Amino acid sequence: MSVALGVNIDHVATVRQARRVTYPDPVAAAQVAEAAGADQITVHIRMDRRHIQDHDLFALKDAVATRLNVEMTSSPEMMQIAEQLRPQQVTLVPERPGEITTEGGLDLSNSAAFSEAKTAVGELRHWGADVAIFADPDLIQVDATIRAGATIIEFNTAAYAEATQDDERKQQLSRLEVAARYAHEQGLFVAAGHGLHFENVAPLVALGLFREFNIGHSLIARAVFSGLDAAVRDMKSLLTS
Ligand code: PXP
Repeated sequence: MSVALGVNIDHVATVRQARRVTYPDPVAAAQVAEAAGADQITVHIRMDRRHIQDHDLFALKDAVATRLNVEMTSSPEMMQIAEQLRPQQVTLVPERPGEITTEGGLDLSNSAAFSEAKTAVGELRHWGADVAIFADPDLIQVDATIRAGATIIEFNTAAYAEATQDDERKQQLSRLEVAARYAHEQGLFVAAGHGLHFENVAPLVALGLFREFNIGHSLIARAVFSGLDAAVRDMKSLLTS
């Protein structure tokens, strides 16, 4: 079975923004990634605009031939962008100002967060987007994702990726397995991402439960040495079991 690869190109923009110049261009990166087999292009529009800028979103929407998946919060500012942009997919994520990267999944067991997400999912779907919830691998989050009206759940693999001991890694893998199986049985499209790289993705692929992985940092890091085309092709080959 071949699993879809969403290539997150945020860090192409990180390199550009380090000098506030026009290169490297995320649109060019998206095109290379697609030619190498990416099934989706993923970007995170952050409130501090540290990498992807608003104009990138609109340029990518025009250029991407596969699907554009925009990770964002459900703040009024981001919802307005989504309404104008109309991407094929939106992944709702939490964001804490100053965080280095996304620190966890959306906690939909919190009733305020749940009702904000439910409203956002309704609006986004009305604008034609498929909606994913980025969630920690817990059954309660699966149920809440369904009640919020989303059809995709992306499980946060950070705890698995960051485990330093074998026992802990196995425990996190089995937590992901249980949650992914349940989500799959409930009819959700099941994705995963965060912290995945060339050495840790295979055990997740082997579970046969994830239909898509969204991978960014490790691909762009590898691309520094091998080029983005080879990096995406190498990762794609690991997703075919
Ligand atoms: N999925 C989500 C929801 C994310 O927020 C991120 C990071 O932006 C990723 C996947 C990609 O994570 P990484 O860059 O660690 O591969």
